[in-house]
Amino acid sequence: MSVSTPQPLPTRRERPFDPPDEYRLLREEDPVSRLSFPDGTVGWLLTRHEDVRALLSDQRFSSDRLRASSPVRAFPIRPGEPAFRAGSFISMDAPEHTRYRKILTRWFTTRRMRELMPRIEQIVAEHLDAMERTGPPADLVPAFALPIPSLVICELLGVPYEDRAAFQSWTGTLLRIDADKEVIFEARDAIWGYIRELVDRKRREPDDALLSSLVHDPDDSLTAEELTGVGLLLLVAGHETTANMLALGTFTLLTRPEQLRTLRERPELIDGAVEELLRYLSIVQYGLVRVAREDLVIGGHRVRAGETVVAALSAANRDPEHYPEPDRLDITRPPSQHVAFGHGFHQCLGQQLARAEMKVAYPALFSRFPDLRLAVPPEEVPLRDDMVIYGVYRLPLTW
Ligand code: HEM
Repeated sequence: MSVSTPQPLPTRRERPFDPPDEYRLLREEDPVSRLSFPDGTVGWLLTRHEDVRALLSDQRFSSDRLRASSPVRAFPIRPGEPAFRAGSFISMDAPEHTRYRKILTRWFTTRRMRELMPRIEQIVAEHLDAMERTGPPADLVPAFALPIPSLVICELLGVPYEDRAAFQSWTGTLLRIDADKEVIFEARDAIWGYIRELVDRKRREPDDALLSSLVHDPDDSLTAEELTGVGLLLLVAGHETTANMLALGTFTLLTRPEQLRTLRERPELIDGAVEELLRYLSIVQYGLVRVAREDLVIGGHRVRAGETVVAALSAANRDPEHYPEPDRLDITRPPSQHVAFGHGFHQCLGQQLARAEMKVAYPALFSRFPDLRLAVPPEEVPLRDDMVIYGVYRLPLTW
């Protein structure tokens, strides 16, 4: 592939746990390559670990998604829709972004996550009990992978868990890459309206959870629109990502029996196993977008102000310059600074929460069901190729 011929983002996977093979070629031969976007514009694709990390910590690039092109058909913008930007700090730059991070960081400290551990353990145990009562078989997605992070983020934010069917379905629509624009707008209006109403309710009926505390915090003084945007971002990012790591990670380990055996024999390896699964699976599968604020040079290529640059996290996490035998899952691999949670200014706010959930959930699942196995051939497990966050739609298991 040459610099002069822009290509669309590689999306077709040859194997379920590996990113598209084209990434390997790009990383070796054209690591800063021309990328064509579905909206007809042309930008850049970065596939090397070093370049991806440099991009994500470079202030000359903006995270403003309203200005960026999307590498896949996702996140359409409706003209005259500014309210949706309020509070959505994932798309903001300093100093606006810094203000939100400061307000929210204290809710996601390692100490807070440690305090949450007993509750996470309890939620995990209750769902395993239910699986045991009603199975085998069981579909891990609705029985375990989706409810655990959903319940945890609901309790942290103060969102009623009884409303999960509605918000999980809106989120499912928002993250599709091939849904009709109008259907996405409808889901966005619905989830926005839902959280907006919740913000009003918290004003009338305060509680101890995050959303209510922000509503009643006189120092932070976020407007109702901003609070809605924050709540929406945390709710969507907080359940869909970890849910897919739990299901896809389990699928991966069940098809790598030697790795699973090692983890069962040496439970102290769980921290490294979680990091390795994050690296190996890189579920934010279509990468992160940034927009050049000025003309500049990356890897010898002139990038013009306004062009979109995509950081391919899954390609960076398989870079052989950074990881020996990158395509091998090895839960004993030393810590490696993977970019599955991004890097730099916008590095995942909820990463300690996601880690806490995974560190509790995987070992509990594998120890409760020592003979856990797939209930269908692996090729029959439906994969989420059409979603911004990769994973499986169903994971039928037996024991
Ligand atoms: C395994 C699970 C998760 C993965 C793989 C993941 C991945 C990511 C990535 C790659 C980013 C960077 C986005 C960018 O730079 O544009 C990010 C940001 C973010 N994540 Fe996560 N995430 C996970 C879990 C969570 C959870 C549990 C929460 C809970 C609240 C969360 C909340 C956020 C927020 C709020 C941001 C935006 C941070 C900012 O812009 O400063 N994530 N995540």
